[in-house]
Amino acid sequence: MNKAIIFLFFGLLVFQSCSKDVGPIEPENNPTQNVKFATDVQPIFNNQCVSCHGNSGNLNLESGNSYNNLVGVNASGYSGKRVVAGDAEHSILYKKIDGSGQYGSNMPLGSNLSAAQINTIKQWIDEGALNN
Ligand code: HEC
Repeated sequence: MNKAIIFLFFGLLVFQSCSKDVGPIEPENNPTQNVKFATDVQPIFNNQCVSCHGNSGNLNLESGNSYNNLVGVNASGYSGKRVVAGDAEHSILYKKIDGSGQYGSNMPLGSNLSAAQINTIKQWIDEGALNN
């Protein structure tokens, strides 16, 4: 190998590692993606919802099942999707917890989520309802 080729080779290596550093920001590193399904949303379901929405009913909110029971899935008691990714205002899950009364009883039945919990679920949906 002559010097020119060796120089070109190392030059390419340096160029490649630099371009990796400035590559697109992954969703998990993106500061605007604040809410995580597994660590922020699922714990709310575990504490406030699974006592009624376990694996025997129509809407299963248990860990490992909840996501597939929500995102893009038609509600059983209402006309519309439980979660429309990116659109909380048209997601029955959100309209059932926001106190609007637009879709029957507010959830959790007999009590309320805190404003912070409601906002966490809203933000998760508006950020694209990722399984993150
Ligand atoms: C005490 C029992 C109970 C608890 C706790 C409860 N639910 Fe419900 N949920 C029900 C019942 C009963 C229904 C069916 C009647 C209705 O739609 O209001 C229902 C319906 C729903 C529906 C509509 C499902 C569909 O496809 O029609 C959603 C969404 C929902 N619940 C979300 C939640 C969430 C989220 C929580 C926790 C924050 C929760 N529920 C906690 C009893 C409960």
